[in-house]
Amino acid sequence: MKVIFDTDVGIDDAVALLLLEASPEVDLIGVVTGFGNASLATTTRNALYLKERFGYAAPVFQGAADSLAERLGEGVPDFVHGKNGLGDIDLVEPTLSVDPMPGAEAIVALARQYPGEVTLVAVGRMTNVAQALALDAELPKLLKNIVIMGGVFGFNGHRGNVSPVTEANIGGDPLAADIVLGCGAEIVVVGLDVTNETIVDQAFFERLRDNAGDAGKLIHDSNQFYLQFHYDKSGVYECPVHDASAVAYLLRPDLFVTQTAVVRVVTKGIALGQTIHADPQPYYDIKAWHDRPTIEICIGVDATAVREFCESTLSVFGN
Ligand code: BDR
Ligand code: CA
Repeated sequence: MKVIFDTDVGIDDAVALLLLEASPEVDLIGVVTGFGNASLATTTRNALYLKERFGYAAPVFQGAADSLAERLGEGVPDFVHGKNGLGDIDLVEPTLSVDPMPGAEAIVALARQYPGEVTLVAVGRMTNVAQALALDAELPKLLKNIVIMGGVFGFNGHRGNVSPVTEANIGGDPLAADIVLGCGAEIVVVGLDVTNETIVDQAFFERLRDNAGDAGKLIHDSNQFYLQFHYDKSGVYECPVHDASAVAYLLRPDLFVTQTAVVRVVTKGIALGQTIHADPQPYYDIKAWHDRPTIEICIGVDATAVREFCESTLSVFGN
């Protein structure tokens, strides 16, 4: 399957990218960067660093430096992903460069090159995808589907991670997310409702370090910062599996339970970035929900199987 990976390369994005690269059924045809976990310059540098260190063939395209409209939070969350976006591990500046085509244009060009074949895995802010939709109204039909890590709907008791109701990728560009979730493409949302169910600990990262070669070492080393951040928040030395869960859905959808829903994103006010699903229908017929296509949202996950999928897939780096 042909995959474009749209990412704000931070700690968990790197795990997802390495999972894609480790999966023989995936043909990674482009990596598109965006602002988010770090500045655009930093996430792009990280994508190139990973390309140089692990030798993935896909070109790196640089995407959006900022949101389309109001976003939640200022600056970059270096307290989550470190100043270098990869948990402040030692890294050398890559010698590789980005492809000159801007990220949104690259999404359109690749979708047009392989009509109906490309899955877009979007695990950063939705800005690049919204800009690509503005460039080409046929994009929803040209793409095979879009798998998004983002949002939270309250299933399994989960709430937001950047506000009580808002997940970071959606809060980072609420307008872009509202555009993308209503664009009519075949979309699956893998949100905190399931990613916060799939929890890993130090033993998980130690096994990867020991069994997954240099990829396992990078994942182990960068996730020390991530574990510490979550420990400082929760008092437990564990963290959720966010972006890798989108890759797990792509390759093992049988490990997830989904529900069909119409979704809108709040673009103003104290609930900025909240994802709301319109199921069941309320008493009043409200215009904001008219003419919106349905998407699939993940509401359940076999967390043990997702953890095992990640470990066994990444173990190819140890062979
Ligand atoms: C999402 O936000 C980013 O910080 C992570 O990389 C992930 O994509 C989790 O809310
Ligand atoms: Ca991400």
